[in-house]
Amino acid sequence: MANIIAGIGSSHVPAIGAALDTGKTEEPYWKRVFSGFERSKEWMARTKPDVAIIVYNDHASAFSVEIIPTFALGCAAEFPPADEGWGPRPVPVIKGHPELAAHIAQSVILDEFDLTVVNKMEVDHGLTVPMSLLFGQPKEAWPCRVIPLAVNVVMYPPPTGHRCYMLGKAIRRAVESYPEDLKVVIFGTGGLSHQISGPRAGLINSKWDKAFLDDLSRNPKKLTRIPHIEYMREAGAEGIEMVMWLIMRGALDDKVEEVYRFYTVPASNTAVGHIILENRRKLPAMTRKAAVGRRRQAAHRADHRITG
Ligand code: DHB
Ligand code: FE
Repeated sequence: MANIIAGIGSSHVPAIGAALDTGKTEEPYWKRVFSGFERSKEWMARTKPDVAIIVYNDHASAFSVEIIPTFALGCAAEFPPADEGWGPRPVPVIKGHPELAAHIAQSVILDEFDLTVVNKMEVDHGLTVPMSLLFGQPKEAWPCRVIPLAVNVVMYPPPTGHRCYMLGKAIRRAVESYPEDLKVVIFGTGGLSHQISGPRAGLINSKWDKAFLDDLSRNPKKLTRIPHIEYMREAGAEGIEMVMWLIMRGALDDKVEEVYRFYTVPASNTAVGHIILENRRKLPAMTRKAAVGRRRQAAHRADHRITG
């Protein structure tokens, strides 16, 4: 059976991609940002997922105002990079998992979540920047398959946080009914607080962001009740991207282990947030000794959490 073992939340600021691609990672401004992802890259290299479901939003690269699906699942064999602004990033083509994606589409749609199936799609910084932050900059190929899930948060009306959370649960049911043994991780991307234009351009609300991360970890149902207007007011117009993190969170256990957190401001106009949440492994056959070892490891990881 396929299993979702962990969720990753990460901002997807396009300037981070540009800094990586133009060799600016050692500049103090950018080093502050990238240093927060060093342990995450190690975690990912140890975890070695077979598939990453990446929830992100397209920024008028694949879709335009002419057609904006609320939830679009990438079922293609591959997804070329594309972008606004700096143009397509020089990263490898993203390889899909059409079999698992088709299974998710069938399961989730029959579960009454009406996804749009997309068999040809380019993917932008919303997806490629979190990939670079977690997988590094491979020259030839990314280390795992990717199923993109594009969410409309750019044109009114976006989906509610509650709808996103419930979709995450449906995605989990879909993954767990896939017969092949696959290790799956799910990304929620975007945010945290930011506003790109208008009189409040540059808005960042660290207090609200940090409370969001706390609740995401321990009390996610509270977040499902936040109305759009509160995201807009507290986290800026583009802060609405944060509803996508609730799809990731819905796909995890109610109680999760927070293994890592990082928060820094700013990158470009944006507050950068990052979290790794692991599903607790089922331990029926575990010996007492092994369980104690695992608790020690968890305590060790908690000591090494980065916050603030
Ligand atoms: C910026 C941040 C984003 O998340 C995005 O999608 C586009 C721009 C910014 O900080 O400029
Ligand atoms: Fe964005």
